[in-house]
Amino acid sequence: MLSLTNKRIVIGVSGSIAAYKSPDIVRRLQDLGAEVKVILTDGGAKFITELALQSISQNKVHNNLWDKEAELSMGHIELAKWADAILIAPASANTIANISSGKACDLLTSVILASDAELLIAPAMNQQMYKSNALQDNLNTIKNRNVEIIDPEYGDQACGDIGQGRLASSSEIAEQVARKFTNNKLTGKKVLITLGATIEAIDPVRYISNHSSGKMGSALVDACIESGADVTCIYGNISTILNNRSNNISANSAEQMHTKVMQNIKNQDVFIACAAVSDYRVKNIAHDKIKKDNLDLTIELTPNKDILADVCKLEEKPICIGFAAETQNTIENAQKKLKNKACDAIILNDVSNDDFGFNSDENEVYFLSKNINQKIAKNSKYKVAKKIIKIFIKELL
Ligand SMILES: Cc1cc2nc3c(=O)[nH]c(=O)nc-3n(C[C@H](O)[C@H](O)[C@H](O)COP(=O)(O)O)c2cc1C
Repeated sequence: MLSLTNKRIVIGVSGSIAAYKSPDIVRRLQDLGAEVKVILTDGGAKFITELALQSISQNKVHNNLWDKEAELSMGHIELAKWADAILIAPASANTIANISSGKACDLLTSVILASDAELLIAPAMNQQMYKSNALQDNLNTIKNRNVEIIDPEYGDQACGDIGQGRLASSSEIAEQVARKFTNNKLTGKKVLITLGATIEAIDPVRYISNHSSGKMGSALVDACIESGADVTCIYGNISTILNNRSNNISANSAEQMHTKVMQNIKNQDVFIACAAVSDYRVKNIAHDKIKKDNLDLTIELTPNKDILADVCKLEEKPICIGFAAETQNTIENAQKKLKNKACDAIILNDVSNDDFGFNSDENEVYFLSKNINQKIAKNSKYKVAKKIIKIFIKELL
């Protein structure tokens, strides 16, 4: 089933008469689950109002590269990084020519150049314009950069001509965007992912835990499902929403998580240990609430079982990917973990940096394995998860 759940789409609306259809395209993208932001070119604004697009997208419409307020925080770069995909619908012949020649002459073309998001272009124009050598040359140049062209339809045109040039239907355009996020490289593969923080009870009301939100693990669940995997997710304490297409099993403490993982690990092809599992638990959990009495209180801790190491020791072991949250000698410590636990890869998270890691929506990690030491630069956790899965598929599967 096609879905754009949690996807961020920037739609560029340029100066074609078909711009009046753009609110419907925004709706179809939202129906598939996307959040949509609009960039309206000066040409586009001649055919559709900013207010209509703002009302439908429920986001401010961006139309000016020279917006002093937005550029205080480098607005065009922010939009470029925010997007998982940029769709230009309708794409005018003029905007297509600008993209083909790499121009950054307005907000839309600047955002495109500054973004590594998927790019899709849905041309709409008079049939003769569409047939012209210049336009076809420009489309070919763009196609060679791995950009997807959503071909216009054949039929009656606003100008009275009949031919190819009518904007593809709104639902076809939205589905084409969704297809960009679906690949089948993990079809038939079973992936077990742990995520979130474990909770170690002290007494009936207090516990020891950590700052993990589960956002990185949940992004990995999304990325694996989009690649066709059958995902089981064992989650601790989280502050994120889980994909409803994974088999979601809750586990509070490290002990519970260990049990649930061992119960579900059989026949899994891949194990991704992303949960922040407590190394220790309270040795004697108090039956009743511990009363305050102004004296020092000592809580004795005892080590928990190591879930990742135990999965790596299984006779029929899946491919194992662990996470290492480190604050000092990060690469060295992560490489030790890779060796000591005999797992196939470690994703190193430097949690000493407040800008990303725990609880943040962004992350920067290293993918480490016997043969790979690759930095995945700071980006949304979803984009980082996509890159982790891409490297995993290429190097380890
Ligand atoms: C009434 C009218 C309709 C137009 N329709 C189209 C069209 O469907 N496709 C197209 O490529 N250009 C069309 N144009 C020309 C573009 O609007 C023009 O090239 C403009 O500069 C495009 O600006 P933009 O690419 O920055 O949005 C039309 C112009 C007018 C006056």
